[in-house]
Amino acid sequence: MANRYLVVGGAGFIGSHLVAGLIARGDEVVVFDNLQTGHRAAIDARAHFHHGDLADPMALHAVFTGRRFDGVFHLADLSLVGESMQSPMRYLTINPSNAGRLIDACLRHGVQRLVYSSTANLFGTADTSPIGEDAPIAPASAYGESKFAVERMLLWAERVHQLHSACLRFFNAAGCDPGGRLGEAHFPETHLIPLAIDAALGRRPPLAVFGTDYSTPDGTCLRDYVHVTDLVAAHVLAMQRIAIGSVRYNIGMGRGHSVREVIDAVSRIAGRRVPVIAADRRPGDPPILIASADRIIHEMGWNPAYSTLDDIIETALIWRRNHPDGYANTAMQQRQTA
Ligand SMILES: NC(=O)c1ccc[n+]([C@@H]2O[C@H](COP(=O)([O-])OP(=O)(O)OC[C@H]3O[C@@H](n4cnc5c(N)ncnc54)[C@H](O)[C@@H]3O)[C@@H](O)[C@H]2O)c1
Repeated sequence: MANRYLVVGGAGFIGSHLVAGLIARGDEVVVFDNLQTGHRAAIDARAHFHHGDLADPMALHAVFTGRRFDGVFHLADLSLVGESMQSPMRYLTINPSNAGRLIDACLRHGVQRLVYSSTANLFGTADTSPIGEDAPIAPASAYGESKFAVERMLLWAERVHQLHSACLRFFNAAGCDPGGRLGEAHFPETHLIPLAIDAALGRRPPLAVFGTDYSTPDGTCLRDYVHVTDLVAAHVLAMQRIAIGSVRYNIGMGRGHSVREVIDAVSRIAGRRVPVIAADRRPGDPPILIASADRIIHEMGWNPAYSTLDDIIETALIWRRNHPDGYANTAMQQRQTA
């Protein structure tokens, strides 16, 4: 049966893929986004777009009024780790207060299910690997702390108001729509794979490798990469699961790839060497971050199909080659033809 969902942040990297995935399932989708980091052209044309800011309670009220949502997905936080360490109060104020307004709107309008995009940053430099849901919470940044504050808010929204939620702690989201229409277009880009691809394609200076003397097999950090299409599947399963109660899931592949390994794979697949320079370690970068996703696999049968490193890089490369300016051209064309 078709459902109607609100996707907050549906113009962003992960949100736009989620919107397309829901529509492909036959669901009706409303996107709420202020386009501060998202792109109008990334929103599937069959979704209803509501331009608004989570800071504005009237805009939120307007999107809920006259519609009954079966659930809400929240993917619209400030999410730059480095920026959060320069302006911690901004992150610690904005992310929880925006989430608070969204939760409040859900409660006022009778929404009973909310899926929240949380982060592995909650676990800081965890002692265990792979990291399960019950590992100690010790955020590595103000960004991680702000996401944990939202998770706590959701806990109380369930205890007091019976709002069911899923907090999905993603490790590294990567890759692009295998159909080539949607991709990752962050400005500034901070993620390793699009940066390595751009360096290989000669669109940016050599890639800085932060730390080459970690206690890992090749001295560089290990990260767990999940293809955005598999992440979308996890969101859909989580929304179904919370019909019966709240959950916290870690989302990763249970295996790590080193920075060096990613660089070598991009060079091989692109057919062009990624130029690199060695740089100092960044404070707060854990040497190894690998998820245990056993809980969502066993409880929900999550079955990631796209998350090999080669599939991730191949899909990201197709997007970067076909959209050298991200969504810029498409957006410009839309304005010109409007
Ligand atoms: N990309 C990753 O690797 C990763 C990893 C862990 C967690 N996450 C989380 O997943 C979520 C989505 O990440 P992404 O990479 O797609 O980010 P993104 O920046 O591409 O998308 C965020 C979207 O939210 C919108 N937005 C932001 N603030 C808003 C506001 N106040 N009101 C309305 N809309 C607003 C932006 O315009 C954008 O379209 C974030 O919450 C992020 O913390 C991402």
